[in-house]
Amino acid sequence: MTFLQRHTDLLEKEIKQIELPLSPNNLYDPLRYFLMLGGKRIRPVLTLISGDLFGADSSHCKNAALAIELFHNFTLIHDDIMDNAPLRRSQQTVHEKWNTNIAILSGDVLFVKAYELLSLCSEKHIKDLLCIFSKTAREVCEGQQMDMDFETRFDVSETEYIEMIRLKTSVLLGCALEMGAVIGNATMDERNHIYNFGVHLGIAFQIQDDILDLFGNPEKVGKQPGGDVISNKKTLLSILAKQLASEKELRLLSNLENELDLKKKVEEVQAIYTQLNVRNVCKQKMDDHFTIAINSLSKINTHKSKEELIQLAEFLFNRDH
Ligand code: IPE
Ligand code: IPE
Ligand code: MG
Ligand code: MG
Ligand code: MG
Repeated sequence: MTFLQRHTDLLEKEIKQIELPLSPNNLYDPLRYFLMLGGKRIRPVLTLISGDLFGADSSHCKNAALAIELFHNFTLIHDDIMDNAPLRRSQQTVHEKWNTNIAILSGDVLFVKAYELLSLCSEKHIKDLLCIFSKTAREVCEGQQMDMDFETRFDVSETEYIEMIRLKTSVLLGCALEMGAVIGNATMDERNHIYNFGVHLGIAFQIQDDILDLFGNPEKVGKQPGGDVISNKKTLLSILAKQLASEKELRLLSNLENELDLKKKVEEVQAIYTQLNVRNVCKQKMDDHFTIAINSLSKINTHKSKEELIQLAEFLFNRDH
């Protein structure tokens, strides 16, 4: 997909050019390390494509796009502490390579850096951008708290789960797109439609993330396989499995939450999910959100092609990492 490569190449170049002091090195080295690990750069690409859709020049969207990517990387550094994750993008997580305090503080400074970049956006748009960005950042924290609260519950409903992932993941995709629309001087209706496109795309994106966590190829995914099962995360897989399970399977799943042999825990949970075919039901739910997303997009009247956004959405839908 050449347009994606073109956008990510531009972003990689820009990310490399972000100025970070050398000292204290225990604060900034982790950031250089983490930002250079790669990642798909989906969110800043969304800002650039959305900006383009509404007629904004990519040079005007650049700082907002970078702010989104830095914010995303900050959330990952802290998320890996909260999820006790050893691996990210196939490398050691920051708290593993350095330590937790360093990961907290370097994450914080990345969040500040995101605001610094955002503040470079034009005066005409800054108020709207700050408003969307700050609201989104707060919502991501709310979603992350719900995600952790759910670890100790066995009765999380599908509705609660969808709300949790809307907050922890989807709103950031919506925000990335809406920021591009703001810079392109889109109307309020257009902003809402592109935001809703992002939110439903984000819901499908997180469901796929849950599937990959347990069923993906670990070398491609680059995270600890079965990390969600190990932490008793409530994923769509786990919620649907409970809906479909027999009484015996339900008891087994409940007991497995306390299993100390982690290899056994992951294997047995995976076997039950496979038996219940929950992966396919998850795929159907992803499909539903994908359809809603495309519907929202179709409500935007523009002479420009929406092909890049549609192709990117399809790429995310079928991704293996
Ligand atoms: C991971 O996001 C966190 C989730 C919201 C699922 P990505 O899968 O976009 O991570 P990178 O940036 O490509 O590593
Ligand atoms: C992460 O969800 C969402 C945020 C980082 C805000 P996950 O915990 O599922 O993301 P991964 O799987 O670690 O990338
Ligand atoms: Mg995580
Ligand atoms: Mg998490
Ligand atoms: Mg995950």
